[in-house]
Amino acid sequence: MENELNIMPRLGEPAPAFKANTTQGPVNFPDDFQGKWVILFSHPADFTPVCTSEFMTFGKMAEDFKALNCQLLGLSVDGLSSHIAWLRRIKEIEFNGMKNIDVRFPLIDDISMNVAKKYGMIQPGESQTAAVRAVFFIDPKGMTRTILYYPLSLGRNFEEIKRILIGLQTVDNFNVALPADWQPGSDVIVPASRTMDEADERMADNSGTMTCHDWFFCTKKITKEEVESKLGK
Ligand code: BEZ
Repeated sequence: MENELNIMPRLGEPAPAFKANTTQGPVNFPDDFQGKWVILFSHPADFTPVCTSEFMTFGKMAEDFKALNCQLLGLSVDGLSSHIAWLRRIKEIEFNGMKNIDVRFPLIDDISMNVAKKYGMIQPGESQTAAVRAVFFIDPKGMTRTILYYPLSLGRNFEEIKRILIGLQTVDNFNVALPADWQPGSDVIVPASRTMDEADERMADNSGTMTCHDWFFCTKKITKEEVESKLGK
């Protein structure tokens, strides 16, 4: 039998199903989240400083993710009482200009490590007893679209997490790819030429609809407003 700690979800495949208790009641994934994007993310332990700074940041940005039709789902291998006590404490803490942060997205009790093991969150080289900082971007069809794993000692960049979500929604809505460091409003990559004639035509095109840096590398403009009009869909 495959070692259960070697299981890792893969991009382009359905995210593993699970049932769990959370600080907002029971959840049944993916059935409860049909038609929504989900960001499932883990942290090593409640009442620890890096995790506290991360929860404050995610809590502060929760409305942005809601507006993007995205449900945040946190997880650690702590129990519900610990989660509730920690989230209540977080509301009292001030950090980096953030205060009175009321975290209302569900935080999964995974004391059994049932979910953490399905998602490759227990990585014994990093910790035998705690989940690493994992982030799974799951689309409205339940497919895993992006995975991040961070070590225990490094807090995540939540603006990058938001950029990834907006990027995935842009890819889906406009049938484009996105270059390095893309931000809404910067140029996007059009699908590659599929015939020799198309490659010739693109290189000769002066209409201004796209810019070809080479026959296989053409970009075009999609304005920030056009991107924003499709987000959350
Ligand atoms: C933290 O969140 O500060 C932390 C948690 C586990 C190990 C190291 C740091």
